[in-house]
Amino acid sequence: MANIFLTGASRGIGAATRAALVAAGHHVVGQSTAGGDGLIAADFAVPRAADAVWQQALAAAGGRIDVLINNAGVFEAADIGDADGFAAAWARSLAINLQSAADLCRHAVLHFQTHGGAKVQGGRIINVASRAGHRGDSPAHWHYAAAKGGMLAMTKSIARAYAGQNILAFSVTPGFTMTGMAQDYLASRGGDKLLADIPLGRVAAPEEVAETIRWLASDAPASLTGATIDINGASYVR
Ligand SMILES: NC(=O)c1ccc[n+]([C@@H]2O[C@H](COP(=O)([O-])OP(=O)(O)OC[C@H]3O[C@@H](n4cnc5c(N)ncnc54)[C@H](OP(=O)(O)O)[C@@H]3O)[C@@H](O)[C@H]2O)c1
Repeated sequence: MANIFLTGASRGIGAATRAALVAAGHHVVGQSTAGGDGLIAADFAVPRAADAVWQQALAAAGGRIDVLINNAGVFEAADIGDADGFAAAWARSLAINLQSAADLCRHAVLHFQTHGGAKVQGGRIINVASRAGHRGDSPAHWHYAAAKGGMLAMTKSIARAYAGQNILAFSVTPGFTMTGMAQDYLASRGGDKLLADIPLGRVAAPEEVAETIRWLASDAPASLTGATIDINGASYVR
């Protein structure tokens, strides 16, 4: 059983992941913007919010975290015709989708290196990126694709830097997954056209992504570190 800190645990992929991890016997400390339901409240749009969240999560986990899962994210449109709005959307997307994850990874690596002074034990980081990080995204979502691409590069850097200390890092790259984040977009873009682009013929269920994350958090072999696991119904095959 591991102590696991999971961001974005209230809804969608995060809620399904929380359920899968708890069912597998893990102790899960979760976060959401609003909090409630036992979750730590934090808005990652606020600079350095992740610092306080890490300390809260550590306390809630009894002083030891074995696995960090960066899942919180936003998918908000940016209009290239609106200079101020464009800049604001980029800043917000990078703060929530990338910088907060980076801040939490920094805390996790330092913690995994010492576990409060004990001999090096290591730990696992799972970053929930996106197919967009490889393939790019819609005209209104350059920033989202850039943030997720940055997350992939960051995860590989962490994997290469700390594998020798048994600190493992993985990325998960979902395609469309049936959550609140995707539902509005599917409706606005025309569901049939998007589904035609997915050979499996349907979007992923949150439980499918959750099971992938659960496996990476506990069962995946150490030699997999640095890997990116696609889960997109073959809509983007690398
Ligand atoms: N759904 C997809 O099609 C899809 C595809 C590829 C990748 N992903 C990625 O998978 C992850 C989860 O997506 P999802 O579809 O499950 O999303 P979702 O249903 O919209 O849930 C987003 C989660 O992030 C939290 N969150 C949102 N804004 C936040 C902020 N400013 N500060 C802190 N937490 C915040 C939310 O908390 P509240 O409930 O309190 O708002 C919620 O727990 C994201 O990183 C997303 O980019 C999703």
